Amino acid sequence: MRRASVAAVLLLVVACGHDRGPTSPTTNPPPVTEPDPLRAAAGAAGKLVGTAVQSSLLNDPRYGGVFARHFDFVTAEYEMKWDPIERTRGAEDFSGGDAIVAYAAARGMQVKGHALVWHQAVPSWVNGLPAADLRTELDRHIRSVASHYRGRVLAWDVVNEAIDDNGFGLRDSIFRQKLGDRYIADAFRSAREADPQALLFYNDYSGEGLGGKSDAIYELVRSLLAQGVPIDGVGLQMHVRAGAPPPESSVAANMRRLAALGLRVNISEMDVRVGDLGGATPANLERQRSVYRSLVGVCVAEPACHAVTFWGFTDAHTWITSTFGPDAPLLFDAQYAPKPAFFGVLDALARR
Ligand code: G3I
Repeated sequence: MRRASVAAVLLLVVACGHDRGPTSPTTNPPPVTEPDPLRAAAGAAGKLVGTAVQSSLLNDPRYGGVFARHFDFVTAEYEMKWDPIERTRGAEDFSGGDAIVAYAAARGMQVKGHALVWHQAVPSWVNGLPAADLRTELDRHIRSVASHYRGRVLAWDVVNEAIDDNGFGLRDSIFRQKLGDRYIADAFRSAREADPQALLFYNDYSGEGLGGKSDAIYELVRSLLAQGVPIDGVGLQMHVRAGAPPPESSVAANMRRLAALGLRVNISEMDVRVGDLGGATPANLERQRSVYRSLVGVCVAEPACHAVTFWGFTDAHTWITSTFGPDAPLLFDAQYAPKPAFFGVLDALARR
């Protein structure tokens, strides 16, 4: 090659390699197109699409940005439970729940209260109470919290996880031990008196498809209705594994039989872990997408299923402490990028 040509080539290489500082408009990368909002697709399907949140994260622009764009139904992951509200007897602190409710109201979101009666997140001072005091304190708690949020929540998980995982009888919680089986009916009656407009739900896990536990849940709510107890729906939590999800047809049949009682149903705490499949490989994320699309699709197809709520929306904040490997259970990754699971949900909501 002639010397002059070599020089010309070198200039060209240097020019191309020269740092031109900020790239000119013509070379900026194409804008990252935001995926369609889940809440728009859900609204078109007549459903609410929600997530559990923590108030401390709402001021994070990435967290708040994704939350506000995609969801119109919100559940406090922790802050509306008994312990965070009344860690000291008689000294109620509603600040966490109030922050979530205010954030939701400013963005046209509905709120689901969670949870008035649960065997976990119980203040330590409750455990030693004699039966008569426990009955008084539990009733006061239910009425106080439901009254505080009256008119600001669409629904409440009034009683959470009262069926045990063994014989599928009632869980032997302190409430059942000291107050008897009637604590459940009493809780729903007090919640209705405190907030006549709120939809009152029973909420539980591992009862999504037909089986022993879902039969026990069905029988519980059928019995409550037969006693004239004010109950409006059942929350199916849907904490599932991508490798062994409940069969779509079984979940549909379970939803239908609950609907035949005149109840609403919702998917209340969905996450789909992939840890036991070996973590977030492309193949496992595709299986996760398929499970999300299939099970959300069951709710979209069932008129009595009014809402789907995910138990968080970014893998950066999930309750699941991975046992086998990264469970990566949610719709957005830890950098808030939508995963295949997100598009599976969008396709289900759009009936694609
Ligand atoms: O906010 C406090 C913090 O101030 C304190 O320093 C720290 C250490 O004690 O605790 C923090 O509270 C924790 C809270 O999550 C907020 O992160 C509680 O200890 C912890 O017990 C609580 O765990 C929650 C758990 O319910 C128990 O309430 C999980 O986030 C939440 O995902 C999980 O959700 C449950 C549903 O309510 C019912 N269905 C099952 C589901 C998963 O377990």
